[in-house]
Amino acid sequence: MNEFDLKIEDFGDDFHWGVSTAAYQIEGAYDIHDKQASIWDAFTSRKGKIYNGDHGRVATDFYHKYKEDIDLMKQMNIKNYRFSLSWSRLIPEGTGKKSSHGVTFYNKVINYCLECGITPWVTLYHWDLPQKLEDKGGWTNRNIIHWFEEYAKFCALQFGDRVKNWMVLNEPMVFTGAGYFLGVHAPGKKGMRHFIPAIHHATLCQAIGGRILRRRVKNGYIGTTFSCSYVEPFSTNKRDVIAANKADALLNRLFIEPSLGLGYPVKTIPALRRINSFIKPGDEKDVIFDFDFIGVQVYTREIVKHSWWTPYLKAKISKATDRNVKTTVMDWEVYPPSISNMINQFNEYKAVKNIIITENGAAFEDKVVRGEIQDYDRLSYLQSHLQKVLEAKQQGSKVKGYFVWTFTDNFEWAEGYYPRFGLVHVDFKTQKRSLKLSGKWLTSFLESKSV
Ligand code: GAL
Repeated sequence: MNEFDLKIEDFGDDFHWGVSTAAYQIEGAYDIHDKQASIWDAFTSRKGKIYNGDHGRVATDFYHKYKEDIDLMKQMNIKNYRFSLSWSRLIPEGTGKKSSHGVTFYNKVINYCLECGITPWVTLYHWDLPQKLEDKGGWTNRNIIHWFEEYAKFCALQFGDRVKNWMVLNEPMVFTGAGYFLGVHAPGKKGMRHFIPAIHHATLCQAIGGRILRRRVKNGYIGTTFSCSYVEPFSTNKRDVIAANKADALLNRLFIEPSLGLGYPVKTIPALRRINSFIKPGDEKDVIFDFDFIGVQVYTREIVKHSWWTPYLKAKISKATDRNVKTTVMDWEVYPPSISNMINQFNEYKAVKNIIITENGAAFEDKVVRGEIQDYDRLSYLQSHLQKVLEAKQQGSKVKGYFVWTFTDNFEWAEGYYPRFGLVHVDFKTQKRSLKLSGKWLTSFLESKSV
């Protein structure tokens, strides 16, 4: 079964192996007890926003099936499970009254993980802001700092005795860019006037959350995650090179550099200068935090060319589907060196202590052959990316772990249920879980792993 020649021992005993998920993509039970709507509940009920009109009201019903799923993780030799907390399940209106039902649910999940020998890795915020807070401006409103503080303190207090590994935000570039600039993700806002304040407030919350968790979680291992894609210019033409630098600053540097004390990359992207009007005295220091690790999430690379017509950046992405390269069903290029290049790029920052790949994976059409899901494309995607992670490690980078995105097929945001990223197939009509070939491979790969 394990035909690929990498050995788990090559990564070292202390390398963290796991799987990642996010609350809205799996939990369902969207209005159970006192749970109120998140921006994703609201966005998915708007016409035409999500492929096929899909939504996460039931999703994979993890809320009711968490035991079955964690049992399956155990059978698959998975020792680390990254999941996120739903803010509106814990504090239904975002601020104020707390939900004992929400706390009970996450206590059950955390305790069951621990009982099964699985270490929980918890993300505070994976995109599902309480709608009540969005009604007040959401990430564009500076009060988010206080709301987020209250939420982070509450989570640390409730779960910090048992959860030691934390991530503050999931991919701030995606939730601000897709949610507040392009309007293709919740809350569906568009334009610089939303995007720019959202960037600054998310950057502040990233560090504030880090400080809260460090202060309140004894022996905590505190991180935050970034989306990133290795960027290359379309040609050696100077304009394309400049365009690629700008895209790299936007996609890969915007949120990490202020946290390291390097400020926003305004020299590379002058249009970002308008962020200055949102920076209050003291903010330059307050956005800094020395994370124990950064979570790097890589799926593809981007080829970028100059474009007169793109406002602000004068850069545009050359689509993978126009380049005659192998792609996933998301139309993302399969390009394994992107992961080692990004590890190396982040490794260059002296202040970065540890790097963990907190997401990597791919969506392909899964073919069922004689009852078996033979997802060879996913298998080879994972293996070729792991090969590159190992190369980066052997070249001396600080990469310390790898989490597959994702455990089961789930709700893939604006794309609905069509793209399947799971190691485990889900029949969304019956909620039946079936291990794919990639899941079987991972099981045998992780066999010798005890931590
Ligand atoms: C990431 C995100 C995940 C998942 C994945 C695949 O950007 O954190 O929630 O959807 O992409 O698209």
